[in-house]
Amino acid sequence: MGNNKAKLLRGRVLTFSSEPKAPEDTHAYRFEQDGAVLVQNGKITATGSYAELAKSLPEGTVTVDHRPHLICAGFIDTHLHFPQAQVIGSWADQLLDWLNDYTFPEETRFHDKAHGDHIAKGFYDALISNGTTTAVAYCSSQPNSVDAYFEEAARRGMLMLGGKTMMDRNAPEALCDTAQLGYDDSKALIAKWHGNGRAHYTITPRFAITSTPEQLEAAGTLLKEHPDCHLQTHLSENHNEIAFTRELYPEADHYLGVYEKYGLLGPKSLFGHCIHLTPHEHDLMAETDSVAVFCPTSNLFLGSGLFDKKSVENAGIRTAVATDIGGGTSYSMLRTLDEGYKILQLQRQRMHPLTAFYWATLGNSKALGLSDKIGTLDEGTDADIIVLNGAATQPMALRMETVKSLSEELFLLQTLGDDRCIVETYIAGIPSKTTV
Ligand code: GUN
Ligand code: ZN
Repeated sequence: MGNNKAKLLRGRVLTFSSEPKAPEDTHAYRFEQDGAVLVQNGKITATGSYAELAKSLPEGTVTVDHRPHLICAGFIDTHLHFPQAQVIGSWADQLLDWLNDYTFPEETRFHDKAHGDHIAKGFYDALISNGTTTAVAYCSSQPNSVDAYFEEAARRGMLMLGGKTMMDRNAPEALCDTAQLGYDDSKALIAKWHGNGRAHYTITPRFAITSTPEQLEAAGTLLKEHPDCHLQTHLSENHNEIAFTRELYPEADHYLGVYEKYGLLGPKSLFGHCIHLTPHEHDLMAETDSVAVFCPTSNLFLGSGLFDKKSVENAGIRTAVATDIGGGTSYSMLRTLDEGYKILQLQRQRMHPLTAFYWATLGNSKALGLSDKIGTLDEGTDADIIVLNGAATQPMALRMETVKSLSEELFLLQTLGDDRCIVETYIAGIPSKTTV
């Protein structure tokens, strides 16, 4: 992967080593005003000041001058739905109606591999245009949607996580598998895709409402048999969803108790939304090192509620941030951070822009346990890198005239920015935005 010739990306370089709470936390990030990142064979081989790196470059190194733009690690989107690319912006009531009226019918179209291939092209174009270099997606329940998803990722050289959605009830017949079929299909897809190039398989029971107890048990068995795979599902997104779950699983103490019973909790388990958790659920999430995934644009669009980042993090729960396309309304992690900021503002919780950019890069890679590969510009990691222009639009350029610090620039990018700010997206060292 990548090409042999070394490439030196010159620009204003920003990378994180831990979570900064304020600009004074300079130990948490590195910022080089005239910096550079050296890339070879798909990997980052050095990051530092341009002057230092320029002293000893491999022979034939090509320099790409991105000044005055910012060079950062690519964004990571930890929760979205590949088969919902054509569901975005559907005028529905809240979650359960939105699923029944728009989402399930759309997902049935993925029995046709050609449709999956078509959507995959558009889906990856959208990710790359928005500077997202890794994502964790739900595919549909048809195994060939997983093939479409990972085949296109392989063509683009991207590190992607995802899996077949397991669902065997409370959905149209055409979309339902069975506990056994869901297990067998997932097992075969793990054998085919997990560790194949940069693909990471993710065991994907949709949520308790669309899985029988037998199917959740099968998902738990898969996770035990494949402890190096991730698991993703939805948790406590909407009040009607919670009430229906409690009806279906009356013996459980709470929603998370359903997943606990079947062994679905753990450090590789990603729980989308986590808006209406009880203190007991908080404790259980923290004890099991499970991850709560905040999906701001989706939570606003579907009227689901306000994610309480402070309580979740104070309980010791690991967090991630994501778009949740197509309940979410933008592929852009900049738009996502902006809406997330506003959700936190409503709760008198302020998020510093350095914290926000940390979250969408290293924070998310840590949540996935992949920070040795992605999420930073550290030497030896994969060269998934983006170049950001904080003056990409006329209103941004005008506002940029008064920007005096890195923090202000990041906040401007987050507040007014979108795909127009992404100058380039390097996937394993290959410039990929310009070809989209
Ligand atoms: N809960 C179960 N399925 C879904 C889905 O596709 N989107 C969202 N936002 N919530 C869900
Ligand atoms: Zn979702």
